[in-house]
Amino acid sequence: MKNFVIPVHATSGSYEVKVGSGLLPTLGSEMKSLGLSGRCVVVSGENVFPIYGQTVLKSLREAGFRTDSVAFPAGENTKSLERYGELMNFLTKKQLSRSDCLVALGGGVTGDLTGFAAATYQRGIRFVQVPTTLLAAVDSSVGGKTAINLPAAKNQVGAFYQPRLVLCDTDTLKTLPEREKRAGLAEVIKMAVLADPDLFDLLQRLDPSIPPDALPEAIEACVRMKAEIVEEDERDLGKRRLLNLGHSFGHAVEQKSGYALLHGEAVAVGIAMACRAAAHLGMLDEGSLAAIIELLQRFGLPTETEYSAEDLFSILLLDKKIADGKMHLVLPKSIGWCEIVPVSRDELRHLLAAACGEEA
Ligand code: NAD
Ligand code: GLY
Repeated sequence: MKNFVIPVHATSGSYEVKVGSGLLPTLGSEMKSLGLSGRCVVVSGENVFPIYGQTVLKSLREAGFRTDSVAFPAGENTKSLERYGELMNFLTKKQLSRSDCLVALGGGVTGDLTGFAAATYQRGIRFVQVPTTLLAAVDSSVGGKTAINLPAAKNQVGAFYQPRLVLCDTDTLKTLPEREKRAGLAEVIKMAVLADPDLFDLLQRLDPSIPPDALPEAIEACVRMKAEIVEEDERDLGKRRLLNLGHSFGHAVEQKSGYALLHGEAVAVGIAMACRAAAHLGMLDEGSLAAIIELLQRFGLPTETEYSAEDLFSILLLDKKIADGKMHLVLPKSIGWCEIVPVSRDELRHLLAAACGEEA
């Protein structure tokens, strides 16, 4: 795959997203060239650190960093107050100072936890994202959303806090389990439905067994799109809210499953639900609805939920996308075009029933 660099000019700071093969050993020198120095704590996951940790530590040490590392259990439950507290205590015990930095080596769970720790440790220290999942490469490592979950609500505690660099070595995607690869594709499909009919066509033509590192165009398209949106609206006040396509319904389904569903799988269900709601409102034609659901299913992603609208309604009421008593749903109008539709509590209940395939 060809290597590419995409700049992100967020209001709170600019940085580059570097994506390509063989980049991991360059991490230390890349960070040094940005003026980072001193101590560096690598935060990772228990599945990821044994595979890539030593390469990262070696690269950092060769560039003059003094290193420490910590690895948390894999899975969404690591985005918790408890793990966040453990990480803060670890950084304090290691006497990390504001001139030091963190590296998030892993998927979106590691990136979100590390980013939130970086945003809040001593009121903010520098950090670098090193995504190792497709989902993190195309979405979570870019744009500075960081968060942990509360038992009652996903991503309830967080901050907008941009990394100094995103470095994605696509070789790391080769060890990603098949189910995780597919989950990452859900966010790629989200981007396609949102704003890129050409990407949608590309995905329709793709052999579903092709590994994601053979998806250079898709990764590049997603990062470019995300960078553009974040530049326009870093803090989710306008256009960025479109990136939540599939996420309101998806987060509710994900949380209801006790995180047995992977985030990307829940987003796939959420996209299908948003499409059904849009079709119910007459916004989306039946042909486009069928094409989107078929594409999700082609990559083995779920499109139905076993939960009832009533089950999901109370979870949805805690969603961050509620403002002035209205839920701001992202609904597709066509493939490549979505709109933000504010709905009242009653309308939401009604649309949720349609989205769940219940009679509404
Ligand atoms: P994840 O971080 O849980 O990683 C998936 C699994 O793959 C884990 O078991 C992990 O240990 C393993 N893994 C990671 N990289 C590997 C590799 N290269 N080889 C082998 N195993 C590897 O899941 P994810 O899908 O990357 O991220 C999901 C999280 O991202 C959710 O919490 C979601 O809320 C968050 N997210 C955040 C944003 C954002 O903008 N901040 C956007 C989208 C999603
Ligand atoms: N993944 C949604 C966002 O970054 O805004």
